[in-house]
Amino acid sequence: MSQEERTGRPRVVLVGPMGAGKTTVGELLASSWGLGLRDTDRDVEDAEGRPISEIFVDRGEKYFRDLERAAVAEALGTHDGVLALGGGAVIDHATRAALKGQRVVFLHVGLSDAVKRVGLGSARPLLLGNVRARVKALLDERQPIYREVATITVETDGRSPEDVADEVRHRVEHAEHDEASGSADAAASEEGER
Ligand code: S3P
Repeated sequence: MSQEERTGRPRVVLVGPMGAGKTTVGELLASSWGLGLRDTDRDVEDAEGRPISEIFVDRGEKYFRDLERAAVAEALGTHDGVLALGGGAVIDHATRAALKGQRVVFLHVGLSDAVKRVGLGSARPLLLGNVRARVKALLDERQPIYREVATITVETDGRSPEDVADEVRHRVEHAEHDEASGSADAAASEEGER
């Protein structure tokens, strides 16, 4: 798909748990493609004028999830670069439905790398208490959902963000190429049938 043909649809949507590296890998990808990076966590924080941890404490998770759902819907309809979603965005049914037909990359991370990356003293509101146990519970619960929405899964354990971003870039470009030649083939066979 050429850049001119893309209007208001992300080239790729990154999903995965906290510590998967969505923002870091997203930045690398966006800069290698010369596109913008949008991050729904940032959008929510900008809209509210305060960090997510404060939103959770003051208004609760439901309030945050409502803002997040709206931020994801808005970004899916308007942003044509790389889009990184907050780790819990996919638990929302409407968001899962909105992801159908999008190119979604799941950045997979196992428990020990996830804990290392978020840090034991994490400021993330859902990790208060025993970080390792909370990360494990979230991974167990959400892994099947990430797999369900993803069109591509990339392993991140033990790898640098650069290495992961390279694999994502190659696989997305490959999928775009296959899609473009698939639609050219379909168009040619339709022509032939006439
Ligand atoms: C959350 C992940 C966070 C942020 C919020 C809730 C989650 O995003 O949206 O703290 O439910 O997993 P990151 O995955 O970008 O850290």
